[in-house]
Amino acid sequence: MDNLANAGMDSMRRVNEITGKQVPTFSIDMLDKDALRDLFKKHKILCVMHFAGLKTVEESCNKPLLYYKTNIGATISLLEVMKEFGVYNMIFSSSAAVYGSPTYLPMDEKHPVGGCTNLYGKTKYFIEEIIKDICTAENQSNGVLLRYFNPVGAHVSGKLGEDPQGVPSKLMPYVSQVAVRRLKELTVYGDNYDTPDGTEVRDYIYVVDLAQGHVAALKYLKKDCGCKVFNLGTGKGFSVIDMAKAFETASGKRVPYQIAGRREGDIASCYADASLAEKELGWALKLDLAKMCEDLWHWQSNNPTGFRPDS
Ligand code: WQD
Repeated sequence: MDNLANAGMDSMRRVNEITGKQVPTFSIDMLDKDALRDLFKKHKILCVMHFAGLKTVEESCNKPLLYYKTNIGATISLLEVMKEFGVYNMIFSSSAAVYGSPTYLPMDEKHPVGGCTNLYGKTKYFIEEIIKDICTAENQSNGVLLRYFNPVGAHVSGKLGEDPQGVPSKLMPYVSQVAVRRLKELTVYGDNYDTPDGTEVRDYIYVVDLAQGHVAALKYLKKDCGCKVFNLGTGKGFSVIDMAKAFETASGKRVPYQIAGRREGDIASCYADASLAEKELGWALKLDLAKMCEDLWHWQSNNPTGFRPDS
């Protein structure tokens, strides 16, 4: 289910191609509870994986009401309909953004949360708290909260990848669009941070490994787990310039860049201690930076202008 605010049905067509399955897909806005009810009536749902939400950090700081309504309001609407239909299992796409500025690194799940440096992170933090409170109040409810670090890459087939509308705000879609010459050069937001090369450090996790983390969480959820939190990251940090160089190596294309001032809401370094997910979920990372960049280049070079506009 997707309201198609930042996606198209073409990506779902490609999921069907890749899997050889016809995944039932619905264009629904989660704020439309009657449409949600229709879906729950038609399909026996055992668990909801909740990925929906706006996620542009800068935009979230300028449009608080839109983000609170879309990310939190729609989640409450979904949770209410789930309760009406006796669906008590949820896997939630949370974010490392709930940690705010690190008080220690690598960050484990015990790291303080709520000191978010941007409104996007606050919405993820509030939704985590809502799910935790529901699991406490209603003991048949189970939730697994997955705190994503920085998902990047594309499916190995080259058929699925990140294709944000407009100019990408995220680093790697921007880098790959520079490599295919859709964009002129990368702007690096600051090179005077307390990091090895002065540019910001993040924990870039391969999106296919991230997807496998959800499959592992679904198996784990069957154990009546209550509400549990897991970091999905690699435990390694790479700088902006590291990533640009890794992509140049993988693609054989130059990624020119210029240094600019810092971006509001950014933090110097952020990377995970992901040992709990490895231990409890049996989730093992498979792919490294080079492979992540190779698959991202395969996607972008096969789809230089992104997905086909929806026919
Ligand atoms: C990465 C680094 C930028 C663009 C993201 C998402 C958020 C959440 C957490 C999942 C930063 C630098 C970027 C550019 C640059 N995701 N950069 N030039 O800010 O870590 O947060 O991950 O829940 O939705 O925003 O990721 O890709 O925006 O930036 O220099 O044109 O690249 O300063 O250091 P970020 P990002």
